Amino acid sequence: MKNDKITESPVEFFGKWAEIGKDIGMEEGHASSVKFMINKLLENNNSKFTIIDAGCGNGWVTRLLSSIENCDYSAGVDGAKQMIEKAKSVDPNGNYFYGDLTEWSPLEKVDIVHSMEVFYYFEDPMFVLSKIYNNWLKNKGKLIFGIDHYSENLTTLNWPAECGVYMNTKSIFEWETILKKVGFNNIKKWQVGAKNDWNGTLVFYCDK
Ligand SMILES: C[S@@+](CC[C@H](N)C(=O)[O-])C[C@H]1O[C@@H](n2cnc3c(N)ncnc32)[C@H](O)[C@@H]1O
Repeated sequence: MKNDKITESPVEFFGKWAEIGKDIGMEEGHASSVKFMINKLLENNNSKFTIIDAGCGNGWVTRLLSSIENCDYSAGVDGAKQMIEKAKSVDPNGNYFYGDLTEWSPLEKVDIVHSMEVFYYFEDPMFVLSKIYNNWLKNKGKLIFGIDHYSENLTTLNWPAECGVYMNTKSIFEWETILKKVGFNNIKKWQVGAKNDWNGTLVFYCDK
């Protein structure tokens, strides 16, 4: 599906956000949904884990995850160079990778992949999710991700035109169908923080 008025790619758009400090506002805006996802990951789970944040922005979630006692390894990958430079400047010893999610793969597979507000920037999200399934996640690994832009969240439907950035507008049913087609099991979903005309962050949590 094509959006009208597309002027730049998502990584160009967010690269500029990093330059003007808008990554910090994004961090604040996403914090409660990310907290929900991290709590879900830790619920009934005391085992050590390795994790990658896909589309990590300035790396704030990668740093948050690495502060968790059971986290053995936490890394972030993003396609906006300025975001990765920012992440490395605040945390020179952190694991931050500059890469396009359609191409990048980790050297070693991990237990968990987390992502916040990223997967609708792809024309073919199934391709990216299949790569994550096949090349990033260990057997029985887990994927948890949140998205605010989806068909049922009506107040977000003007975002592509407003930002001039391509967004793939899909319904909750369509996202769930993609996850099933990729091969994910035990799919759980929530709409986190739904209030008035805001339908909440659509969170999916599933197993390989
Ligand atoms: C809405 S921001 C979210 C950033 C971060 N997850 C957060 O919550 O602060 C979307 C991020 O996805 C990244 N992104 C978009 N398309 C990408 C691609 N093809 N490859 C890698 N990163 C991409 C952008 O650079 C941007 O940092």
